[in-house]
Amino acid sequence: MSFVRSPRITVFPDTGTAAAVVAARIAGALQQNPSLVIGLATGRTPVALYAELARVTAARRLDWSSATTFNLDEFLGVPPEHPGSYRQFMEGHLFRHVNLRPERINFLVGTAPAEEECRRYERAIAAAGGIDLQILGIGTNGHIGFNEPGLSLQSRTHRVELKPETRQSNVMLFGGDLSNVPAEALSMGMATILQARSVILLANGESKASCVAQVVNGPLTTSLPASFLQLHHDVDIILDAAAALELEREHRSG
Ligand code: F6R
Repeated sequence: MSFVRSPRITVFPDTGTAAAVVAARIAGALQQNPSLVIGLATGRTPVALYAELARVTAARRLDWSSATTFNLDEFLGVPPEHPGSYRQFMEGHLFRHVNLRPERINFLVGTAPAEEECRRYERAIAAAGGIDLQILGIGTNGHIGFNEPGLSLQSRTHRVELKPETRQSNVMLFGGDLSNVPAEALSMGMATILQARSVILLANGESKASCVAQVVNGPLTTSLPASFLQLHHDVDIILDAAAALELEREHRSG
């Protein structure tokens, strides 16, 4: 009998090596299934991955024209062309480097009427046949997407109030001025994320180490939304050495 353990944890010496391995996996998946549906994250963590994907795409002439993407989240009230929007982040880091068809790039529109926009997004994911591979980062407070810690979690794409620490970690997108960072966002929900067929969670740096250890070894709790990834049967957690420090400490102390 064989057991599949999920989450599987892989630790790399540095972010660059981790990015290269994950980019190679995505490239391989895309070559095997040109119609791959990929869920994408923004933030500092996947920047090296997107740079590597751009490089691999040019080197191997990867064809993205039949692939579909869905990004996790967007700031409420921020139009897609705003320089601080996640849409613009993705344009700069990935979309302009690959031949994704514009109509196959799916994004929550921060300026659309929120409730209808969330329903539209859920319908679009279902119409695409669901997400094959979801890339995630993790907030220092344990959020995934913008599913913030709280007494309850929302299952589907929804409007969310951002925690002060989340607004702070996005301040550079808005000229370094916290008062310009939107207080709310739209985000895929926990069930939306957990229904992806495979999940890759990336975490870099010591600021993520304690959260990562709780995600792996702690209880399921809405105060650490990423802990719900323990329920998924196919999750890879890809860490650099610093993000794995607490896990290793726990391992050494038995
Ligand atoms: C962004 C997202 C967030 C980030 C998280 C980590 O689309 O979904 O959950 O992944 O806030 O952000 P960084 O990578 O900047 O530490």
